[in-house]
Amino acid sequence: MCPESVEYDCNVPPYRFSVSDLDYDAIVRIMPPVVRIQNLTKHYFLESVTVRALRGVSLTVEQGEFVALMGPSGSGKSTLLNLLGCLDRPTSGAYVLGDDDVSRMDDDRLSEVRSRYLGFIFQSYNLLPQYTVVENIEIPLLYQGCRLNEKSRQRCIQRADLVGLGDRLEHRPMQLSGGQQQRGAIARALVNDPHLILADEPTGNLDSKTSDEIMQMLIRLNAAGKTIIMVTHENDIAAWAKRVIRMRDGVIEIDEPNQQPRIAQGVSSAFVSALNSLMSEAVR
Ligand SMILES: Nc1ncnc2c1ncn2[C@@H]1O[C@H](COP(=O)(O)OP(=O)(O)O)[C@@H](O)[C@H]1O
Ligand SMILES: [Mg+2]
Repeated sequence: MCPESVEYDCNVPPYRFSVSDLDYDAIVRIMPPVVRIQNLTKHYFLESVTVRALRGVSLTVEQGEFVALMGPSGSGKSTLLNLLGCLDRPTSGAYVLGDDDVSRMDDDRLSEVRSRYLGFIFQSYNLLPQYTVVENIEIPLLYQGCRLNEKSRQRCIQRADLVGLGDRLEHRPMQLSGGQQQRGAIARALVNDPHLILADEPTGNLDSKTSDEIMQMLIRLNAAGKTIIMVTHENDIAAWAKRVIRMRDGVIEIDEPNQQPRIAQGVSSAFVSALNSLMSEAVR
């Protein structure tokens, strides 16, 4: 099926709402899925061999989902996440992100989509060592071409506050614990009010207590309406997600809801409204 044939009301402005003001379920019903991919393949051409890393993946992810992507090493998880993150292009197949057919975009448009609509969280945090926490949070704004000023600085400070780093603004990554660095990376991922957060093993370098703290933070973001796709190989971590997709040999083997996701503490309406009011101020 060609993705253009999917019907939805494109007059409804997607993603810009406050959960507290509106009927969340009703919004989900009228909004296009965040991700629609159809028969996606990715082949790597090495000297004499072709590696078929993805061999026809189809997937729809709706607004507000929290998906864990699992599977053995080499099954194609990172390849799929890279395509979802517009960091690479598929060999064939379609990928529609929100309203945009990104599988046909050139590099410039892809990087624009990345900086406007996506937030990334990596296993090794990827904060720039020479910059402070607040400067690291500003980086996606620079990629978007925003001029940094007092207002944008305040936005970054608010996000640092939201993840509990309000008293570490001037610290550099080396002066922070792993969990604090990952919280900084989450704040950075939130600065552009992303439609979709992509996380590759976000707790892979953390002890189990800190991992739980980071997962609780992701759960709170999800409760506030953020859509999350997270690669993990740990069952304990996938147990937080609402849906678990298992890959094998470049295809989706199992795609099922998690009937009893782990419950996070602190998913308060205060957090949800704090996040939403921050997001509604985000500059496009
Ligand atoms: N840049 C690349 N060039 C060639 N082969 C690659 C490249 N990236 C990944 N692969 C191959 O594609 C397959 C899937 O890799 P990957 O997506 O990294 O799996 P996973 O993240 O599940 O471990 C593996 O066989 C891997 O060796
Ligand atoms: Mg991988």
